[in-house]
Amino acid sequence: MADSTLKIAVIPGDGIGTEVMPYGVRCLEAAAKVFGISLSFQTLDFASCDFYKKHGDMLPPDWKETLSGFDAIYFGAVGMPDLVPDEVSLWGSLLKFRREFDQYINLRPCRLLAGVDCPLAGRKPGDIDFWIVRENTEGEYSSIGGKIFEGTDRETVIQETVMTRTGIDRVLRYAFDLAQSRPRKRLTSATKSNGISITMPYWDSRVREMASRYPEVNVDKYHIDILTAHFVQRPQIFDVVVGSNLFGDILSDLGPACTGTIGIAPSANINPDRKFPSLFEPVHGSAPDIAGKGIANPVGMIWAGQMLLQHFGYHDAAAAILQAIETVLAQRDQGIITADMGGKGTTKSLGEAIETAILTAK
Ligand code: NAI
Ligand code: MG
Repeated sequence: MADSTLKIAVIPGDGIGTEVMPYGVRCLEAAAKVFGISLSFQTLDFASCDFYKKHGDMLPPDWKETLSGFDAIYFGAVGMPDLVPDEVSLWGSLLKFRREFDQYINLRPCRLLAGVDCPLAGRKPGDIDFWIVRENTEGEYSSIGGKIFEGTDRETVIQETVMTRTGIDRVLRYAFDLAQSRPRKRLTSATKSNGISITMPYWDSRVREMASRYPEVNVDKYHIDILTAHFVQRPQIFDVVVGSNLFGDILSDLGPACTGTIGIAPSANINPDRKFPSLFEPVHGSAPDIAGKGIANPVGMIWAGQMLLQHFGYHDAAAAILQAIETVLAQRDQGIITADMGGKGTTKSLGEAIETAILTAK
């Protein structure tokens, strides 16, 4: 992979997605230039509400073929709730990519950066630095179930959790590999085997089995309820946290929320087998309330690009982007940082400052 061109599909989407994306691409281009990486970008107009208005669908019929030709999808945000219902825009695009490309890992960093106000009292940069690995395809989010006796007193709804050995083992393998690669080599599993008495003890047994193959990794587990409390009260103890689809969903919002604003958080949806492209995106949505004003924080988009390079093994370039983000935010120049971080800057001022910091990285 390292000696060939990395083909990236660029999908800006809607709202601030289209505003932050240019700076994401510029920062990737800057890192590619400094570190001699060959990247190619192709911008696609689908998975946007404009496309929907023209074609009556979020995606063209051959979207899967088109995107399969890329190594990665760099995605902005989708959604214009006043024009298209969210379930149509999101289910008709992003969620299809995640499912049909078997992106079974959702990965998010929780890292407190210098210059970012931490909502938790008394925490400083370096105190919080861990990863959340969420199972992204099965578990509690299954379509097995149904409704009977509708409209009567016996109205009954059932939705089954589906956990497969294949599904659990592959997410655990990814999480253990990640823990193994980190200095602290610590893995925490989210469970609830005291209340959910069939699937969660099974999850725990797969964790034990996987742990026996990674003797260097220190493993612990917490029930999800106390685990959420620890995220707030003792975030410094975590290194890699792995959870099922539902638990991972909750933790992967809570974790980044403990380290700053939604405008800076990135996320990756990964198909580790590389059979399909992986997708890198900011956590935030299209933010219709600030769209068109040029004030959206571009850091989440840029950091998602950093995760893209990291995923493909370009560790030096990825480290340089993260360093550039940290350096610029730490200066807290009011004319540069955006309003969500307490400044008066714009997408352009912050995006360009980070781009410049990358270009002077070496
Ligand atoms: P949102 O993330 O778009 O906005 C939530 C709040 O955070 C807003 O007040 C917004 O101004 C602010 N915000 C978000 N990103 C920011 C940034 N980069 N800089 C500064 N402030 C920022 O979530 P919301 O409002 O619930 O959803 C809006 C639309 O986005 C909906 O159509 C929703 O379906 C869609 N959405 C799409 C996602 C995706 O494409 N992955 C994820 C979340 C929502
Ligand atoms: Mg969520």
